Amino acid sequence: MREVKIAGIGSYVPEKIMTNDDLAKIVDTSDEWISSRTGIKERRISEGENTSDLAAKAALKALEKANLSPEDLDLIIVATSSPDALTPSTAVFVQRNIGAFNAACFDISAACSGFIYALNIGVQFIKSNQSKNALVIGSEVLSKITDWKDRNTCVLFGDGAGAAVLLPSEEKGVSSIFCGADGRKAEFLNINCVPVKNPFVTPEKIEDIRLTMDGREVFRFASNIVLEAVNKVLKDANLTLDDIKYIVPHQANYRIIEFAARKLGVPEEKFFLNLQKYGNTSAASIPIALDEMIEKEIIKKGDKIILVAFGAGFTWSACLVEW
Ligand code: COA
Repeated sequence: MREVKIAGIGSYVPEKIMTNDDLAKIVDTSDEWISSRTGIKERRISEGENTSDLAAKAALKALEKANLSPEDLDLIIVATSSPDALTPSTAVFVQRNIGAFNAACFDISAACSGFIYALNIGVQFIKSNQSKNALVIGSEVLSKITDWKDRNTCVLFGDGAGAAVLLPSEEKGVSSIFCGADGRKAEFLNINCVPVKNPFVTPEKIEDIRLTMDGREVFRFASNIVLEAVNKVLKDANLTLDDIKYIVPHQANYRIIEFAARKLGVPEEKFFLNLQKYGNTSAASIPIALDEMIEKEIIKKGDKIILVAFGAGFTWSACLVEW
């Protein structure tokens, strides 16, 4: 069976920076509270661009790095919790924005684990000869579903997009990839939708669409699953942590990573973090981090890295990438 590699990565974040001090002007919080509980210092907020706009900009950069033109694309998958519309998919808007009219398009919903879920699907499409390539995107405009009156959640999230072009390869690329979920925990992190409303049902209340979270439950789950998922990848790949240059986690919270690093027995520096600049950009956080690592030459050809994500559902996902 052929291998699949990441041939190009690109990212895009809105220009508008919202600092912790800016947030303290709209909810009862402080830079000290947010920094010490999460590690986040600032985040980017869309001033009108929607999820597909961010995704298209990240996609064009990834295509350029992979030396591919939009017409070459066979498949576009967008992982998002903040789509442009319930239907059609955000992926079709990306297709239209970049002119990739030969590509099949769909979205997947796996919250902050979505990028690796989508990566897994893209890899399987190429391995099974359904596609000769794939564009996998994580894109979020979470600011549009954030409850800006809820200090428990509004301080955590940000907007952004990251994209990866996948191509078949002779050399090893993405491997030991897996996804998991536990629907019994669905209520702990949630973005509601329209309730059932039709000629037979009149809901008592229709609430605004907004994100709600039980922070402590999410924290407990996330810090343990990072440990489990990293160990599973190492076992599947028959490697040890000494073989791994970096672990690139979903960028949710510094304290989750601190806990996981301690349990794994590795220095925190083994984890690449840029959440201080972007907050939690959900499905976009891992490709945004990867793009920065490549731009800064933090990862080089031949390096082995582990990607690991966790999020609403609960869901989780991880893989090994040989660069
Ligand atoms: N500013 C100031 N105070 C805040 C606050 C804010 N932004 N948000 C909450 N508080 C308050 C709470 O109201 C509470 O006050 P009380 O004791 O008077 O009721 C107090 O701070 C402590 O709240 P608690 O929930 O115990 O804080 P915590 O130490 O558990 O940290 C989180 C809260 C959200 C930072 C933490 O639970 C967490 O990181 N969870 C995971 C979140 C996450 O990463 N989600 C996405 C995963 S994909």
